[in-house]
Amino acid sequence: MTKNNEKAIGIIAAMQIEIDGIKAQISDPETVTVSGIDFVSGHINGRYVVCAKCGVGKVFAALCAQTMCLGFDLECIINTGVAGGLADGLSVLDVVVADSVVQHDMDTSPLGDPVGLLSGINIVNIPVATRIARVLSECVEQVGVKCVLGTVATGDQFVATDEKRRYIKETFNAAACEMEGGAIGQVCYVNGVPFGIIRAISDGGDGEAVLDYPTFAAKAAENSVRAVLRFIDKF
Ligand code: ADE
Repeated sequence: MTKNNEKAIGIIAAMQIEIDGIKAQISDPETVTVSGIDFVSGHINGRYVVCAKCGVGKVFAALCAQTMCLGFDLECIINTGVAGGLADGLSVLDVVVADSVVQHDMDTSPLGDPVGLLSGINIVNIPVATRIARVLSECVEQVGVKCVLGTVATGDQFVATDEKRRYIKETFNAAACEMEGGAIGQVCYVNGVPFGIIRAISDGGDGEAVLDYPTFAAKAAENSVRAVLRFIDKF
């Protein structure tokens, strides 16, 4: 990859439906493929961006974020997509913007650590830069969608039972659950790159999730895309 002399806003999503609407706005896109992931860069309304669909889960998300950090001069990375809603009062199609992210499946508690402790960096919650969380929240509200600011919980599991849902919500005081944000956050944290997470609710992470997710994912993803496009203009 050749570094452009402009700083890029990096956008990562797990699935095509979560990022195609952003990629489509890039003028004169250039694509570089690394480890099977396409990094599509160019300008949206004069702002230099790089977009990638990483695939599902923490390993692909980390691989993608690290490659982006090495290949581009980044202003920040924004992880966009859908999530299971955990906070009270959240409905399908509402949006959660992270003020921090945890990995709910990280657990060295048998050794005496707090659940979710990230060995090596020794924190549970990775904080999101206040300005990114604030601007993302404003953008969500400006596109007419309800926004909740809170903790996003990441793990390599599609959450679809009341029991798992309650565990994640209560253990981490989490507002939403998904499968990539915590890995992207950890990569950004160790690379000193500011990051943000914005997730529209496709389901409740409960017994209904397997039916709700295919019904609402595409429509929810659109809400997150609209807010991210606004963010690119404003940030
Ligand atoms: N993404 C969307 N819904 C989800 C769920 N219930 N669990 C994990 N990731 C999700």
